Amino acid sequence: MSDNNKTAAASAMWGGRFAGGPAAIMQRINASIDFDKRLYAQDIRGSKAHCRMLVRQAILTPEDGDAILAGLDTVLAEIEAGSFPFSAELEDIHMNVESRLAELIGEAAGRLHTARSRNDQVATDFRLWVRDAIDGMDAALKDLTEALLDRADQHAATVMPGFTHLQAAQPVTFGHHMMAYVEMIGRDRSRLTDARKRLNESPLGSAALAGTSFPTDRHFTAAELGFDRPMRNSLDGVSDRDFALEFMSASAICAVHLSRLAEELVIWTSAQFRFVRLSDGFTTGSSIMPQKRNPDAAELVRAKTGRVIGDLTALLIVMKGLPLAYSKDMQDDKEPVFEAADTMELAIAAMTGMIRDLTVNTDVLRAAAGAGFTTATDIADWCVRALRMPFRRAHHVAGSLVKLAEDKGVGLEDLSLAEMQAIEPGITDEARAVLTVDSSVASRTSFGGTAPIRVREAVAAARALLGGQAP
Ligand code: ARG
Repeated sequence: MSDNNKTAAASAMWGGRFAGGPAAIMQRINASIDFDKRLYAQDIRGSKAHCRMLVRQAILTPEDGDAILAGLDTVLAEIEAGSFPFSAELEDIHMNVESRLAELIGEAAGRLHTARSRNDQVATDFRLWVRDAIDGMDAALKDLTEALLDRADQHAATVMPGFTHLQAAQPVTFGHHMMAYVEMIGRDRSRLTDARKRLNESPLGSAALAGTSFPTDRHFTAAELGFDRPMRNSLDGVSDRDFALEFMSASAICAVHLSRLAEELVIWTSAQFRFVRLSDGFTTGSSIMPQKRNPDAAELVRAKTGRVIGDLTALLIVMKGLPLAYSKDMQDDKEPVFEAADTMELAIAAMTGMIRDLTVNTDVLRAAAGAGFTTATDIADWCVRALRMPFRRAHHVAGSLVKLAEDKGVGLEDLSLAEMQAIEPGITDEARAVLTVDSSVASRTSFGGTAPIRVREAVAAARALLGGQAP
């Protein structure tokens, strides 16, 4: 079709009132085909469901219905083969498909749009797309969880320093640290599952905004498209974008989790920490400093979080001032969602790759676990338990021991029994035993604590849940 003909075809779709074509700049700001072509499969699926419903309700003849369904299959095949002639004159995916359908099957194509509008059409297509994106993201997060669980299992008893304020606080296990992320990702997945439930209602048949005078069956189209039910209010049906916002807000929270883990990888791989090592597969060298091994993938996962948060913010702001029902502003809902989905796909895959790739430097972690008097709480706890000392006084005793060790430039475990007894006469050799990092972590058996037995239980419980969790 020539460009002039396409312009004519587009105005033919808006109706006879439009004699002239749009100004070039109008076309540029108005056309969404460059990005909404990603909805083609959902658009055709939605049109087929609508067409079948029209035939069942005797709004369309079976002959027209068959021609439309066959024509839509041809359009789908053309798009998938890369031979479909996308056109900006035809504005968006809906008009591109319909116009091609008319070229293929003639007048019957014009009957497909009976009892619907692009407003409910796009809302339907987009819901179907976001639903698929949720399912894809959930599967990717399950993969990441498995990678974290493998690490947690392998390092359930590997001691490392636990931090608060990024200051060495108390020894923990590497497995316990990995399991903290398993918890976060688990909540991310449950947010997605939850968003999916609310998303899964069909706007199709809301028509432009008010419903339709044709005897449609919205329950049928809802079921055809795998929705739980039709949306109850036609105005809401065409103007709601909560599903996109919920998807992006769940994504943004998840991206924040990935970013925190990425930040830890950046710190842990530094020459000052050396807690873990990433292979050449996930690092780059420096063109000038030969000793460097830069954790670029982790840095970029951290950086990309900004986009996802920005995408959520962008759509929240688009929506905040819109009166009911549809406004063209809502066409700008797609790019943020596509970007968030693409970014999350990449970030989750990169993080999964890094978790599988990394080597844990257990010796470095062990040495760091005991540095900085991290077992000071253990000696205070011992005084409470064995000497029945009030915790506040025990804290004071431990503090004095730390000060002495610090002054002498040694670790707590290097103080002699006599030196310790000079501070607190009740201290015995048994007290000195609690100062090792292994006994410290082994003693933290409270529910949710870092003791290796608790970590192994947590891994087993998470694995059981993972096996049984619905997508
Ligand atoms: N391309 C449009 C969008 O994405 C489709 C709906 C157009 N509706 C309208 N009334 N102009 O929002």
